[in-house]
Amino acid sequence: MTRSTRCILVTGACGQIGSELTPVLRERYGDDNVIATDIRSPETACLRDQGPFEQLNVCDRGAIDAIIERYDIHTVYHMAAILSGTGEEKPNLAWNVNLRGLMNVLEIARGRQLFRVFSPSSIAVFGPETPPDYTPQTTILQPTTMYGITKVTGELLGEYYVQRFGLDVRGVRYPGVISSETPPGGGTTDYAVDIFYHALQSKRYTCFVRPDTVLPMMYMPDCIKATLDLMDADSDSLRDHCNFNIASMSFSVEQLCSEIKKHIPEFVCEYEPDFRQAIADSWPRTVDDAPAREQWGWRPQFDLASMTADMLEKLAPRLKSSRR
Ligand code: SER
Repeated sequence: MTRSTRCILVTGACGQIGSELTPVLRERYGDDNVIATDIRSPETACLRDQGPFEQLNVCDRGAIDAIIERYDIHTVYHMAAILSGTGEEKPNLAWNVNLRGLMNVLEIARGRQLFRVFSPSSIAVFGPETPPDYTPQTTILQPTTMYGITKVTGELLGEYYVQRFGLDVRGVRYPGVISSETPPGGGTTDYAVDIFYHALQSKRYTCFVRPDTVLPMMYMPDCIKATLDLMDADSDSLRDHCNFNIASMSFSVEQLCSEIKKHIPEFVCEYEPDFRQAIADSWPRTVDDAPAREQWGWRPQFDLASMTADMLEKLAPRLKSSRR
């Protein structure tokens, strides 16, 4: 497909979500119309060869602006972020990447009157004072992590740009995202992905949170679906914009282990909780996503059993071929 006059920009395209969102966007809009960017170099063939890739630090406003100008960008999926675990180790970096990066994108989008911006948020906006079960979308937002602080601020900034400048900014609060393509990095919910790699490779895993830890999770196909469904929604149907709760499944580590054992009976999980336990304990167990269901028809497709079966099926051949 040849380049249309207006293109889509993805920041953080090499990350866990960006690396799967970019190919889906390229499939939909044409390889040359989706500009993948990241501070890192691309590892997958899709990102490297199938369409344009540019190295980009989202803290560099001039560099973002130059790419938006060069490719005549109309929509930005701003996926670049530092997650909760890394954010506690490097709070200054999390502040800079997550908030300076977002301000850069919002300011450029306002100035150039871009069509739409996707700005992801997270269950990390919640904190220990938030009701932990079926947490409503509008509730106490007093996170205790730097990541959560940047995400609450990001939601408020996005809504401010909607109300003040009429910019179309949208975002969901992603739960822990489970996927087989690109491992996540630096998040508290990463155990729910790591466990699959270890179950297949060594049949043992040492988990960094307790067995009874329950968090909201989602399988990547549902994560991509939520992202695209919200971006496709008619503006008139949206009363909220940047803070949608989206629920899919919630389970304890023990429940995940039992499900994996149905496929790999020898699998053993041990537990050595570290600093991420406190982060997990400050987040809800389940969230109520009624506004997303009502305003843009959100419905997840995977549950714990179907996600586990699909993860193992996708990951097993990949790990086998990487050992060769
Ligand atoms: N997966 C993220 C993290 O654990 C939460 O959004 O940091």
